[in-house]
Amino acid sequence: MKIAALALSNNLILAPLAGISDLPFRTIVRRFGCGLCYSEMVSADGIVRGQKKTLDILRSGSGDRPLIAQVFGSDPGVLAAAAQIIEERGLADAVDINMGCPVKPVIRRGAGAALMREPGRVRLIVREARGSIRIPLTVKIRSGWSPKEKNALEIARIAEEEGADAVAVHPRTASQGFGGRSDWSVIAEVKAALRIPVIGNGDVEAPEDASALLAQTGCDGIMIGRAALGNPWIFRNALRHLAGEGIERANLEEKRRIIAEHLEMSVGRYGELTGVKNFRKHLFWYTKGLRGSAVFRKGAGTITGTDNVLAEISAYFDMLAAGAAEEKKQLDFLENLNISFNQS
Ligand SMILES: Cc1cc2nc3c(=O)[nH]c(=O)nc-3n(C[C@H](O)[C@H](O)[C@H](O)COP(=O)(O)O)c2cc1C
Repeated sequence: MKIAALALSNNLILAPLAGISDLPFRTIVRRFGCGLCYSEMVSADGIVRGQKKTLDILRSGSGDRPLIAQVFGSDPGVLAAAAQIIEERGLADAVDINMGCPVKPVIRRGAGAALMREPGRVRLIVREARGSIRIPLTVKIRSGWSPKEKNALEIARIAEEEGADAVAVHPRTASQGFGGRSDWSVIAEVKAALRIPVIGNGDVEAPEDASALLAQTGCDGIMIGRAALGNPWIFRNALRHLAGEGIERANLEEKRRIIAEHLEMSVGRYGELTGVKNFRKHLFWYTKGLRGSAVFRKGAGTITGTDNVLAEISAYFDMLAAGAAEEKKQLDFLENLNISFNQS
């Protein structure tokens, strides 16, 4: 897959996730084959004002490529200026404009999904941003504002006409939030009408869904968000499924290693206090569904200090490994019993 001149090693893409798709998480998902990452959304206004906090969100590293920086805003001039700064400073390989965020603080500024109600403004935004950068420009949209205002196709067409290089579609309306299901037929409709690459997004929860999304919509790229939380292996397994290979689930040892590496990267990125605090949510996601995880989380949720958290993780995974070994022993025993019973 290519977005203008930006060539991707594969078409599996990490979604922009505010507060989550930071440098450590991107580094982890890339390890499992993710072909392109979006940054967390950042305020175009903050970039233009040179706000340290905003620019810090865009911090990246040499291995963290290809990367799309996502900006939100509503003023065409400000968005264009922000895009230019991203290009000039080499902060990312491409710029994406958020036209799908439904949260109040963003909507109130006329940004995010509110833009879908203003096709004329979308045209100006894409035109001005296109004129200000040479690197690829993309937009991320929803299916519309509300069930009565579904205009993904109109907005996608405008984006293409004004020079966008790809469109990502999350086919829920803004008023839906995350309720209901994504309507993949909207992705198919947009794909059929556009020449530029279309990235399909929404409810890819398992490797098989990636293949299904591709088959049902003909989209070029597959964007994964929530299913990657605590499960970066979804990229490896979606790639395997697309290639007709079997799923390779993460075993306990691999899980323990990745959790520890992710924590260390988080601490390296934010310092110990914030790094551990930010990592807690990931730790919860990584251990979701594992035996005794509720008790572990209760304890781990309050611990501070990298070494303490690492020790807690080690103890928990040792316990899981011991449980798994004991379970295997019992299963082997039962199997043998069955054989001797059948033979007698
Ligand atoms: C916690 C969270 C943060 C998100 N942040 C952003 C964001 O910054 N920009 C954006 O365009 N979409 C954002 N989204 C939407 C996702 O990019 C994606 O479109 C949505 O989660 C649907 O994909 P999924 O079903 O694979 O999760 C966010 C979603 C979640 C759950």
